[in-house]
Amino acid sequence: MTHLRRRPALLAAVPLAVTALLAAADPALAAGGVGAPGVGDPCFPLAGNGGYHVDHYDLTVRYDPVSRRLEGKAVLTARATQRLTRFDLDLHGLKVTGLTVDRAEARHRRHGQELVVTPRRALRKGERFRVTVAYSGVPGPVTDPDGSLDGWIPTDDGAFVASEPQGAMTWFPANNHPTDKSSYDITLTVPEGRTAVANGVLLGQRTAHGKTTFRWRQTEPMAAYLATATIGKFRVERFTTRDGVKVYNAVDPREAGAAAPVLKKLPSVLEWESRLFGRYPFRAAGAVVDRAPQAGYALETQTRPVYDRAPDLGTLVHESAHQWFGDSVSLTSWKDIWLNEGFATYTEWLYAEQHGGDSAQKTFDALYATPAGDELWAFPPGNPGGENIFGTPVYARGAMALHALRTAVGDRAFFRVLRAWAAEHRHGNGTTAQLERLAERLSGKELGGLFRTWLYARGKPNVSQKTR
Ligand code: TRP
Ligand code: ZN
Repeated sequence: MTHLRRRPALLAAVPLAVTALLAAADPALAAGGVGAPGVGDPCFPLAGNGGYHVDHYDLTVRYDPVSRRLEGKAVLTARATQRLTRFDLDLHGLKVTGLTVDRAEARHRRHGQELVVTPRRALRKGERFRVTVAYSGVPGPVTDPDGSLDGWIPTDDGAFVASEPQGAMTWFPANNHPTDKSSYDITLTVPEGRTAVANGVLLGQRTAHGKTTFRWRQTEPMAAYLATATIGKFRVERFTTRDGVKVYNAVDPREAGAAAPVLKKLPSVLEWESRLFGRYPFRAAGAVVDRAPQAGYALETQTRPVYDRAPDLGTLVHESAHQWFGDSVSLTSWKDIWLNEGFATYTEWLYAEQHGGDSAQKTFDALYATPAGDELWAFPPGNPGGENIFGTPVYARGAMALHALRTAVGDRAFFRVLRAWAAEHRHGNGTTAQLERLAERLSGKELGGLFRTWLYARGKPNVSQKTR
C-alpha cells in the first residue's frame, strides 16, 4: 500500500524565469490601485491575483473533439479587496474576443499568463463587480516545473481536464490559486453522443440539433484547480447514497470491466471516511474513469475525481480522502502540499489497516527500512519547491509524519485531530503551522520537534526521533 499516484516520466525541470515579473503583493502597486499579478505563492509566483476575490464563476463552454476548438464565456462575480484601477486574471493561450466589467467594455491586454484588465472606472474597495470574458481557441495543457501536463488534455474522444496545480487557466480565466474558493455553474455543450462531466450536481441535460448541453452546479466553495470539464464517450450511472449524496459516475467503456468492482465500493469508502473524518463535505460525489494516457495520473477534482484509467482500490480511497483533505480543507500555499498528499496517502494506510491488510505501523516500518540514499529521503516534504510537489517524499514521508504524530499522541488524540482539522477548516484553507497548533492543543504535547524532524529536516530522520 505504499504506491504513489502514477505519474509521467519526469522531463528536465523548466526553470522559473518569472521572479523578475513579480510585483506580487507589492504595497506600492496596491496603494496605486493596481491588483498584483500573483498572490505571492513561493512555488508559483504568478498563480492567482491580488486585489479581489471571486464569489462565483458561471462558465459556458462548447467543445468540438474533432476540431478541438473551444468557445467559452466566463462570468465572474467578484469583490474588490482594495481600490482597483487595474487587475489581472490568469489565462493561458486562447483568444479573448470580448471583455466587460459591469457591462461596460474594458481595456485588456495579455502578458504571458496574465490577462490585464483596466475597467472604465476604478472599482472601490469592497465593491462587488462582474467580469464577462468571451474567449475561444484550441486549448492545450501547460507543462509543470516537474514536466507533467495539467489543464485541458485532449484525448481520443474528448478531453481529460485535470488542472493541479496550474491548469485551470488553460480553459477559463481564473483567479487561479487555492486561497480563492468560489461556487461554480458549469454549462458544457458537446456533440450528441459525448458526455461532458463537471463538478457537483447535474441540473439538467438537453439535446438539440446534434449537440448535448450538460448543466452542472458546484455549490460548495471550490478552488479553480479542482474544476473539471472532462469529455468523452462514457457510460453513466446515477444513484443517491444512504446519506443523501448524489452520485454520478461516467466510465469509458474500454475501462468499464476493470473499473466496475472498484467503483462499486465508492459508497462504502465514503461512509468509512465519513466515520473517520466527519461528515462528507459535499452534496455530490462520483467518478470519471477515462482513458487518458496523456495525463498518466488521477486527480481529486471536487466531488468527482477524474481517473486516467480504471483505478485500483487504493487510488479510489486516496482521491476520496482528498475530498476532505485538499478539497474541503484547501492549501494556503503550495509549499504545504503534504497536507493534501500526506493525508490522502495515510488514509490508504488506514484503509488497509482496518480492512484486513497491513497495519499502518508495518507500512511505516517497511518505508523506514529503505536506505538513506533512497529517493524517499531526497528532500523533506514540508517545503518541496514547485518542481517537487508530487515527489515521493511528499506522499510517503508526509504519511510517515502523520504516523509519527499518531504514535506520539496516541490514537484517541490523533483521530480527534483529523476530525477537528476537517471540521475547523471545512470549506476553507489551512497551513502546516495551524495543524501543529491544533495537534498540540488536543494532545497537550509540545510537537515542534516532531514536525521539524518529519517535515523540514534534511535526510532520513534518526530512528530515535521516530516518534518524539
Ligand atoms: N494530486 C494527484 C493525486 O495525488 C496527483 C497529481 C496531480 C499529479 N497532478 C500531477 C502527479 C502531476 C504527478 C504529476 O491524486
Ligand atoms: Zn493525492
